[in-house]
Amino acid sequence: MAADRIVIFDTTLRDGEQAPGFSLRVSEKLQLARQLDALGVDIIEAGFPIASEADAEAVRLIATEVPRPVTAALARCRTDDIERAGESLKAAARSRIHTFIATSDLHLEKKLHITREQCLQAAISAVTQARGYTDDVQFSAEDATRTDLDFLCRVVESVITAGATTVNLPDTVGYSTPDEIYEFFRAILSRVPNADHAIFSAHCHDDLGLAVANTLAALRAGARQVECTINGIGERAGNASLEEIVMATKVRQDRLPFGTAVVTEQIFAASQMLTRLTGEAVQANKAIVGRNAFAHEAGIHQDGMLKDRRTYEIMRPEDVGVPATTLVLGKHSGRHAVHHRVQQLGLELERLELDRLYRRMVALADQQKTVSDAELVQMITDLRQTPEPGAPTPLGHKHGPGTEEVGYGHGV
Ligand code: KIV
Ligand code: ZN
Repeated sequence: MAADRIVIFDTTLRDGEQAPGFSLRVSEKLQLARQLDALGVDIIEAGFPIASEADAEAVRLIATEVPRPVTAALARCRTDDIERAGESLKAAARSRIHTFIATSDLHLEKKLHITREQCLQAAISAVTQARGYTDDVQFSAEDATRTDLDFLCRVVESVITAGATTVNLPDTVGYSTPDEIYEFFRAILSRVPNADHAIFSAHCHDDLGLAVANTLAALRAGARQVECTINGIGERAGNASLEEIVMATKVRQDRLPFGTAVVTEQIFAASQMLTRLTGEAVQANKAIVGRNAFAHEAGIHQDGMLKDRRTYEIMRPEDVGVPATTLVLGKHSGRHAVHHRVQQLGLELERLELDRLYRRMVALADQQKTVSDAELVQMITDLRQTPEPGAPTPLGHKHGPGTEEVGYGHGV
């Protein structure tokens, strides 16, 4: 069965860039846009033109210099916003105006000070105006997941009638759970009579760490566009991470039968470029792109990896552009990994030499966490120059004779 093609809407340069610490110059945005193009995203949200001249310039530049993906520009449901977005996109080969307004009572009463009726009219007018610039208009109901469902259905039906071709229902504050998101999209898709005239989109924030799970739940419920960012950057705790969504669908086709046009081998390069340009590193244990995502230190794991990588890796590092799996030599490593590294370094050791090296390596790692190749070579030189006094004893190290060989199952 062919996988359902989903649309990847990348908002690294808009939602991601507007987060503290992630602002980028126009030239840097262009550089990233080229990488997003190489990555194969369908839509690049390049900025919010009314917000600043630099954002308008970034939209103009990306729209002309990166013609393959659709360039999207954000606009509130206001005449001047839509005008500015439309003008910035004038030279685009493929453009989308993305207009939004909050729909929850909380936002209407406390933030916008307007009634539901005023909100509805603003949404309809904005979509109508945007259609004067492009046939590709996206409407977003900000704080959709905390909006009264009957009212939201009215808004969605009306904007589709007014010409919205994509309807995005953001979990703006990252409040929802996957079950809820599933039911929410099911309810909207079944209740809105003209729902089949638009593509529905998920835009989930990560305040409870559920953005990717919620996005996948929305897909299962019928959404066919996902909004996401490289490294999951975005307002507060961020957005759903592009690399996690894409690899989840790729690795788990059995449960998530969705296809994308993403060239997954370009993921790591995109992540690294973003890190370099913003100066904000991703956490070491970040899925897919973190430093430890394909690194193994525990002896049992290293032993398994050396026998068959599938024992501890569900995808290959090269599939996401990571150069190689790393077996980190640390205090949890076993002799199998040490021996493997020694061989990689072009050296051969006798069994007893390997035992001595292993003990020294663990002792050093106890002090300084990990041991580099240079340190390993130095230890080999040292131990060859200083033969062990007396007869060699069986291994006396506290970790025993290499956890991987006795198969302790304590999860190191
Ligand atoms: O989180 C949000 O609601 C947004 C909208 C502007 C789409 O970013
Ligand atoms: Zn957002």
